[in-house]
Amino acid sequence: MTTSCTSSCPCASNKKQASLLYLRTLQVRDFRNYECVELEMPSGISVFVGDNGQGKTNLLEAIYVLATLKSFRGAKNSQLLRRGQSHARIVADVESKGLARQLEVSLGPQGKRARVDGKDPRALSGYFSGIKAIAFVPEDLRLVDGPPEGRRNFLDRAAFTLDPAYLDVVRDFRNALNQKNALLRAGRQRRSPPDKALLGVWNDRVAVAGARVIARRMQFLGEFVPVFREVHEGITGAAKGRAEIRYRGCVTTDALSRGLKGIEERLSARLEEAMEDEQRRGFATVGPQRDDWQLVVGGEALRSFGSQGQIRSAALALRVSEMVLARRDLGSCPLFLLDDVSSELDPHRNRQLMALLMDLSAQVVITTTELSNLKIDALHYQPWKVANGAICRYNPGS
Ligand SMILES: Nc1ncnc2c1ncn2[C@@H]1O[C@H](COP(=O)(O)OP(=O)(O)OP(=O)(O)O)[C@@H](O)[C@H]1O
Ligand SMILES: [Mg+2]
Repeated sequence: MTTSCTSSCPCASNKKQASLLYLRTLQVRDFRNYECVELEMPSGISVFVGDNGQGKTNLLEAIYVLATLKSFRGAKNSQLLRRGQSHARIVADVESKGLARQLEVSLGPQGKRARVDGKDPRALSGYFSGIKAIAFVPEDLRLVDGPPEGRRNFLDRAAFTLDPAYLDVVRDFRNALNQKNALLRAGRQRRSPPDKALLGVWNDRVAVAGARVIARRMQFLGEFVPVFREVHEGITGAAKGRAEIRYRGCVTTDALSRGLKGIEERLSARLEEAMEDEQRRGFATVGPQRDDWQLVVGGEALRSFGSQGQIRSAALALRVSEMVLARRDLGSCPLFLLDDVSSELDPHRNRQLMALLMDLSAQVVITTTELSNLKIDALHYQPWKVANGAICRYNPGS
């Protein structure tokens, strides 16, 4: 039995307006352990099943590289090329908002090159407008219990996906922070602290730009948290307790609720207080670059008290919520790539997750070592077998 989302579920809203983004075909050449694979993909759910070390994650990585020009494993170009090869290519016929285009990424000694219909796009934004992907990989568990940097990146990337102008806000802040850090570092090296008036000028810039970063994060969380709560509940069941995201930062919760001006005033005061300490240490210790957030379920921090399965459910809910918001706000649903998604989820959570995925009406690519791990009716997906860098359609019954 599969459970469907209710009409009040965030997955269900705006489903009709969102157009499907999907890879009709995929060709991968000399990428990781693939010499050459060519697939015709269905628009719904594909499940790639295979033993350990056969190339399942490599295939997802190829799709992710096509969509983002980055590896979700943080791999360098040279690691992505099949051993002994100097070039790799990933090509797909992609349909998005009714437009069919061929997207191609070639990897070589000069780095990555993206093309649309065989031509160099005028700007990369033209390339990215045709494809978006969100991936859930085992490393995402670190979003819950790992270092804060990953959580900050998640927040900033997800906010950027919905509002590309946020990139400029972050850049302004980074510029101001880098200049301030250069001043503090130089002072420490000279063993003579930088001039307070000059430091004050940079603090003013950091306060203005930093407040905009924090305010944008708050605005994003305002949209994200209700969706996350429902998705999390959808996977885990309401009885497990209400999920919250608590932002813990350089300004108080009270200041956060007072909008941009309130945040800027409080951040400015905090920077003033920290001035002597920062001069002594030689780097900036206060600002959104050190903020963090944590997941709390039923009043308890998951990082400290969550089981592996609870942590996995929460990390998954973060990614599914990103999908739901992207579809709602962008009008097209990104590709959803789920690596080894079902291990550690109990059968109930597995079923709930599969129901959520079907409700997304997105192109979903899942990998697993064992088909029976996935609690989904065979009618609802296309199974593929991955063995030693080769992929074929799979009929589990035969
Ligand atoms: N650049 C490369 N060239 C050739 N082979 C590579 C390259 N990078 C990785 N591999 C091979 O790819 C295989 C791992 O593939 P992958 O990580 O996709 O496995 P998997 O099917 O996801 O396994 P698991 O179930 O354990 O996660 C390993 O055998 C590894 O040696
Ligand atoms: Mg793998």
